Amino acid sequence: MALREIRIEGDPILKKVCKPVTEVNDRIRELIDDMLDTMYEANGVGLAAPQVGILKRIFVIDVSEEGNEPHVFINPKIIKTSGSQTGDEGCLSIPGKTATVTRALNVVVRAFDENMEEFELEGEGLMARAIQHENDHLNGRLYVEIAEGPVRDLTLETKD
Ligand code: NI
Repeated sequence: MALREIRIEGDPILKKVCKPVTEVNDRIRELIDDMLDTMYEANGVGLAAPQVGILKRIFVIDVSEEGNEPHVFINPKIIKTSGSQTGDEGCLSIPGKTATVTRALNVVVRAFDENMEEFELEGEGLMARAIQHENDHLNGRLYVEIAEGPVRDLTLETKD
């Protein structure tokens, strides 16, 4: 298990557009393993390569309750969106903050897995939100740029 340092908002690397992966070699496989370890360790549901300082079009997501359903997306393309959902979002690169973001409710994404095999995945709800959020990272965009209303401090929120 190897953890990588998560880049925090203000780091210019988070504003850059990532490059496509041309070949999945040992370095890329190690990166993906480290990204999953780093995501799980931080209790996140998604992590994009630029968040660990690598400008490649890769992100990982696991929205399962148990954290045992990792998905790896290489060179992803969102090819279809429908519906709309409005809800709170957070980001490991913007710790302790949340804001409301409207996203498509359903997406179809086409990507390659760690064996460089192409797949299509249909995501709904949180999965769709995570795919759109992580895909934005690959284009240098953070959720706070498209948030509705203020970015709030999570520690000030009361829980029922
Ligand atoms: Ni994020």
